[in-house]
Amino acid sequence: MMSPNDLSATEVSVSVDGHAAASRVPSTRLLLDYLREDRGATAPKWGCGTGDCGACTVVLDGVALDSCLVYAAECDGSSVMTSAGLETTPVGIAATEELLAAGAVQCGICTPGFLVTIVSGVGDLGPSPTREQIVELLSGNVCRCTGYLPIIEAVQRLAARVNGG
Ligand code: FES
Ligand code: FES
Repeated sequence: MMSPNDLSATEVSVSVDGHAAASRVPSTRLLLDYLREDRGATAPKWGCGTGDCGACTVVLDGVALDSCLVYAAECDGSSVMTSAGLETTPVGIAATEELLAAGAVQCGICTPGFLVTIVSGVGDLGPSPTREQIVELLSGNVCRCTGYLPIIEAVQRLAARVNGG
């Protein structure tokens, strides 16, 4: 249990999926742990903890990144969107529909991270992205179940749908 007077603790105010709150966090607390344990935002998942699997992907101030590689103390004044927040946006709803339609969800542990990557990146793909463009977008996310083909198909359909193809 952290003391309120702990000099290694930092006051942070972070908006998570549109809900702002302030609290003190240890200087070494990872954003992923802060989200899951302090804020109850469990959509980002623990996978590797080393920036290799993308299961913890969130959007931090407009940039998709691995929340296991960022300290919460660095995020004071920031806005974080997880898949739980993004899936209620028009693009998020469309992305969810396309992932489900393509059969791109099996065990689901990777899905929140993929959703964040896809929703934050699909707008740059244009209506008819190449397979290589989609693979590049998804290169930071690992899926052990689907073989990736259904996910690529879902992104192709989503790009056409949201970018006017
Ligand atoms: S848990 Fe963060 S990249 Fe794997
Ligand atoms: S659906 Fe199981 S790891 Fe991707």
